[in-house]
This record gives sequence, C-alpha cells and structure tokens, in this order.
Amino acid sequence: METKDIRVQYADSSHVVHAERICQLIFESAQQRGTGIAKRRPEYIADKMENGKAVIALDGDKCVGFSYIECWSHGDYVATSGLIVDPEYRRLGLATKIKEKTFQLARERFPYAKLFSITTSLAVMKLNTRLGYQPVTLSELTHDQEFWQGCEGCVNYDVLKRNNHRICLCYGMLYDPRVQNKPRAHWYTPYWMAMRNFTKKIFRL
Ligand SMILES: CC(C)(COP(=O)(O)OP(=O)(O)OC[C@H]1O[C@@H](n2cnc3c(N)ncnc32)[C@H](O)[C@@H]1OP(=O)(O)O)[C@@H](O)C(=O)NCCC(=O)NCCS
Repeated sequence: METKDIRVQYADSSHVVHAERICQLIFESAQQRGTGIAKRRPEYIADKMENGKAVIALDGDKCVGFSYIECWSHGDYVATSGLIVDPEYRRLGLATKIKEKTFQLARERFPYAKLFSITTSLAVMKLNTRLGYQPVTLSELTHDQEFWQGCEGCVNYDVLKRNNHRICLCYGMLYDPRVQNKPRAHWYTPYWMAMRNFTKKIFRL
C-alpha cells in the first residue's frame, strides 16, 4: 500500500459526505477492540467539518482517516478526539500524519488552550508523547460535564461514572503550552546564578 497519494488536510463542508462512513469506521473499530471509543453521530462529525475543527485523510475520493477537535471550559481546554484510520491503511504512518495535522489545527485555532486526549490506545499514547503531551490523572482535564457526557457511548462509562469522572480505563494526556514554551535551563545556569549572587553581595544590590 502506497501512502504518498494520501492527502491529510483540514476538513470542510465539502467532506460532509464522508461523515456516515467515519461513524461506521469508529463503530466497527470500537466493536472489534471491545474497549472504549465514544460513539459519534454523522451530524456531529459533519458539524466539526463545517466549523473547521476536523482533519481528514483521503485516498482519492475515499476517506481513510479522520480526527477532530473540541473546545471545553470556555476555550481553556481543547480535546483532540475521534482518531480513526481505515483498517486497510493501518501501520503506514497515517495516524501519525493525522495527529500532527490535528495538533497543528488546535494550536493555530486555540494557541493558549491546554490540549488533551484520553485514550486506551498505545499508538495514540506514543503519538501524543512525541508531540509533547504528558500523562496526567483525569482530574487534571476539563471539568466540563458535557465533555464527560460524550463518554456515555463508551463500554466503560459505568467505571467513569462510579469514580466521579476521576478514574477510568483511559489514560489522560495533556499538552500545556505554558509549560512547553517555558525557557529551559542551560548547563551554565547554576554558574550564572552564582555569579549574579556574588555580584549582588559585593555591590550590596
Ligand atoms: C490507533 C490507530 C489510529 C493507529 O493508526 P495507524 O495509522 O496504524 O498508526 P501509525 O502507523 O501512524 O503508527 C503510529 C505508531 O503507533 C504504533 N502502532 C500502531 N498501531 C499500533 C497498535 N495496534 N499497537 C501498538 N502500537 C501501534 C506504530 O508502530 C507507530 O509507532 P512507531 O512510530 O514507534 O513505529 C488505528 O489503529 C485505529 O484507527 N485504531 C482504531 C481506533 C482507535 O483506537 N483510535 C484511538 C482512539 S483514542
């Protein structure tokens, strides 16, 4: 299978025709894995496309991958969700490209928001880590009730509900732009600090 002809791009209203198939792919893969993936309706997916909050992968006219972003807590948090790759196109690096594009979309549209993802997928954990996400407990993520209601379609929802939205089978991963953009300490930092303190002492600053 060649991936060079596959286009990974921001979705728009012209892609709404693929919404049904995307839901079907999400549903089938949730059934196959037997683990949680929140179910989505085609109207929901279409809305994401129309509002410039989704990324689609196309092989010609065929949709072979998808992901979208959602805003929570009045824009303080943005979730990257619903990552799916057609089973025939897996293990070719397509999810990597979709994840990177979705990350780019979220950072462009919401540069100050904390980005997060909840997942049971090892592949997704790897990709998030490469983008700078850190593992966190679910309590560090949005407290917006509507977000957690989105998990109702997941087979593990009873676990989440029982634990008051703090513990579930999904891992939480968070990208905080304030932490990521903080300047890193260099090897000379302790010497620089010592010099500064010494100068302050001498000149009684
Ligand atoms: C998870 C999924 C999106 C990965 O798509 P993909 O296109 O095959 O992923 P990639 O080829 O870009 O691989 C990314 C990395 O994950 C690894 N990976 C992919 N599938 C994996 C799997 N099933 N188990 C463990 N690692 C996996 C790859 O080896 C690669 O790691 P590397 O760069 O160190 O080699 C795809 O399997 C899928 O759609 N699954 C069903 C839906 C799902 O689970 N979505 C996530 C919900 S949060």
